[in-house]
Order: sequence, then structure tokens, then C-alpha cells
Amino acid sequence: TTTPKPLIAGNWKMNGVTSGLTALRTIAEGVSQHTDTFDGLICLPATMIERGTRLCNGTALLLGGQDCHFEQSGAHTGDISADMLQDAGASYVILGHSERRADHDETNTDVLKKSLAAYETGLTAIICVGETRAEREEGRAMEIVSNQLEGSMSKDANSQNTVIAYEPVWAIGTGLVPSNHDIEAMHGHIRQVLSERFGVEGESMRILYGGSLKPSNAEEILRTKNVNGGLIGGASLKSEDFLAICAAV
Ligand code: G3P
Repeated sequence: TTTPKPLIAGNWKMNGVTSGLTALRTIAEGVSQHTDTFDGLICLPATMIERGTRLCNGTALLLGGQDCHFEQSGAHTGDISADMLQDAGASYVILGHSERRADHDETNTDVLKKSLAAYETGLTAIICVGETRAEREEGRAMEIVSNQLEGSMSKDANSQNTVIAYEPVWAIGTGLVPSNHDIEAMHGHIRQVLSERFGVEGESMRILYGGSLKPSNAEEILRTKNVNGGLIGGASLKSEDFLAICAAV
């Protein structure tokens, strides 16, 4: 099996209005200089995707959404469908981020259903998993992550339509990161779960690390075995930080 090309993905979360387009354009130009070594992606708030698409036209930067409904249209006030994201120019969608699992009570089954909508549209789903601090302290991190993978991924997942993001909840926005040893152990565990269930496809599926990834720790984390890129929150909002992380690939 070949090692997948790294994916450096930003998650802007609920950040970004018109003034943020300058940073987006800078990121798009920077990413376009290194298309041979990694793929660059920014998952924007839905309101910015169409403008982002026009602004980044002709660059290598990929754009994505941060959630989608499990249906493509209908009476679901306030929701966004995979078809709508794709229509606006997105090619990726983050699903099951821990903030959505916590703030919107999203279950593994919800995430699985959303992934089917993403596949139907042709979007690549970034399915997020990760344990809480309490779960890690109880020694249950791997069990929790296995269960999330089992329940959130459909049998239709493959290395083209799915990316896994391991984001320990306690590392998100806290400045804390697991030791390199713990990252390697968890990514190895995820790789094993994926290979057992999806065979060759599971061996080449990308597994991203997310949680307080920043320029100062990017090099060490990104060269860890079975880390095929990163999902970056805070540091993706500043073009110089995001591009510094990209430079560490
Ligand atoms: O999805 C990425 C995110 O949850 C990590 O956030 O701010 O810790 O990089 P941050």
C-alpha cells in the first residue's frame, strides 16, 4: 500500500465574515505552491463557501463545509444539505465534530446517515472521533474511538470518500496535545480498525490529527506514523500560522 498524500485541513468553526476573505486568499496562494506534497483544505462557515469558491478559483485550495443534514432538501429550517454545500463549491464536509456531538447531541448513527448524504452528493466526509479527558483517564480512549468508528462509518466508506480525524476532545482549543507516543498508539489503533473492516481501502484512508496543532508542534506530529495530515482549528484562522503548519509537512 502507498502512503496517502497528506491533507492539511482548516476548520474555521463559527468564525469568518467578509474581512476573513483576505486570509483565505493568502492561504489559497500559499497552498498552491506545494500541490505535489500535500492537499490543502479550508472548511468554511456555510455563508462563506460560495464567495470562497469564487475567490479561490484557479488555486489549488479545496473548500469544505462543517456539517450537513442527512437529507438533501426539505422542511428542515436552518439546516444545510450536502447538495447545497456542493452547489456552493465545497468538495469536503466535516461530520461528527465533537462540538456537534456535544452541542447538538449528534450520535454515531446521525453521523453515519450524514456520511451517506455526503457520498450521494460526491463530497468527501471527514468523520471526527476522539475521547474526552475522563475517558482517557479511565483508560478507555481506544475503546471509545473504536466504538465511534464502528458506529459512525458506513460500509460504503472508502479511501476516496472518507477521511478520519482523530481529535481528543481535551486537546481542542486548550493548547494541550497528547504525547507523540500516545498519538502514534491511537493512530496505529485506528489504522488497525480501518484495515480490519475495509481491507486495502482502510490501509490507505487518511487519518488526520486534530487538537491544538500549531506551527511549533506541527513537524513532530505530522511526521508520526499513520498521521496523514491535520485538522486545524484556531491556527487555521491566521494565514501565516496555517501556512507554517503546511510548511512542516
Ligand atoms: O476541528 C479542528 C479542531 O477541533 C481543533 O481545534 O483550535 O485546537 O486547533 P484547535
